Amino acid sequence: ETVEWDAADAGKSGYDHYMLKEINEQPHALRECLRGRPRELEASIAIDELEGLKQPERVHFVSCGTSYHASRYGAKLFREQGIQTTTFLASEYDVDSIPIDEETLVVGVTQSGETADTLRALRAANSVGAETLAVTNVVGCSAARETDYVMYIRAGPEIGVAATKTFASQQVALAMLSRDLSGRCSSAFIEALRALPDQVQSILDTSHAAAVADEYVDADAYFFIGRGFDAPVALEGALKMKEITYKHAEGFPAGELKHGPLALVTERTPVFAMISGNSNIERMVGNVREVESRGAPVVAVTDVPGRIENHADHVLEIPETHGLFAPILANIQLQLVSYWVANRLGRSIDKPRNLAKSVTVE
Ligand code: G6P
Repeated sequence: ETVEWDAADAGKSGYDHYMLKEINEQPHALRECLRGRPRELEASIAIDELEGLKQPERVHFVSCGTSYHASRYGAKLFREQGIQTTTFLASEYDVDSIPIDEETLVVGVTQSGETADTLRALRAANSVGAETLAVTNVVGCSAARETDYVMYIRAGPEIGVAATKTFASQQVALAMLSRDLSGRCSSAFIEALRALPDQVQSILDTSHAAAVADEYVDADAYFFIGRGFDAPVALEGALKMKEITYKHAEGFPAGELKHGPLALVTERTPVFAMISGNSNIERMVGNVREVESRGAPVVAVTDVPGRIENHADHVLEIPETHGLFAPILANIQLQLVSYWVANRLGRSIDKPRNLAKSVTVE
């Protein structure tokens, strides 16, 4: 008796797609990212490979795609520590028109370490004498070789074109980096970091994202809204949805809803609202009511279900965490929704049309 064996499927460990496998690998990926870095006894974070790196005068993030969304989240954590931080799309980074000097740390966030736009931005930063740091997943990649410092996110190989586990690992890496640079951390922060892998596992074990996807698979468009720390994940939720489903999706900070996107909201456009303990709940509830009154279905992704369930058609719950980490957990639910919509539509999930895992042209 012979068994059909396909080399391309061997790496999927029984999952239909690498993307689903990689979504499910996130607890392990986060444990690896954390390994040896939080120091419980001193309530501090130590990133060994960054030994010698001092708190800079200012930080510029340069990145593309999903890595840009992780950077937007990271930048909020840096600013919250009092570090002056700006995020740039790497393709828009122009050292001739931006204040930059030796006191500037330019952080290239890049899963592959080979994205042409990001490499170009890092080279430009090097050429004007700024300090450079690559936050990457690939040991020995171009970004790592060309920067002064490198921090590895240790997510393991990611095959699916749509970034999933590497986004979560980037979020956790940048959270640690914010505390390493500021030199200020707390036991509560470390405890919450340590809890994340198990919390992600509990989402994976209990999520009913597939049922939500089933209900909205025929929608005209999908909107994603969040405030503050949740806003970057709204952008990422929409990017994931477009990449793998080929359907229209938009994400934005919730306050912008009334400045344009509301014109597109109908009963055929579900709105995914991130509402976490840290996200200005009252104003988020206000935004949800705006779309509710236009007949749009509302899916709340939240750690405070009691505050929103009267206004939501579905609640995708996340465990309670340090307010700053809710966006890491909420994103897991959004990954699953996109995956299941794409799956129901029969899309080429691991290799979406027109997209590449790593874009090596500018
Ligand atoms: C491509 C990939 C995206 C990724 C982006 C940046 O567009 O399809 O998933 O986010 O490049 O890649 P990087 O390797 O620099 O993080």
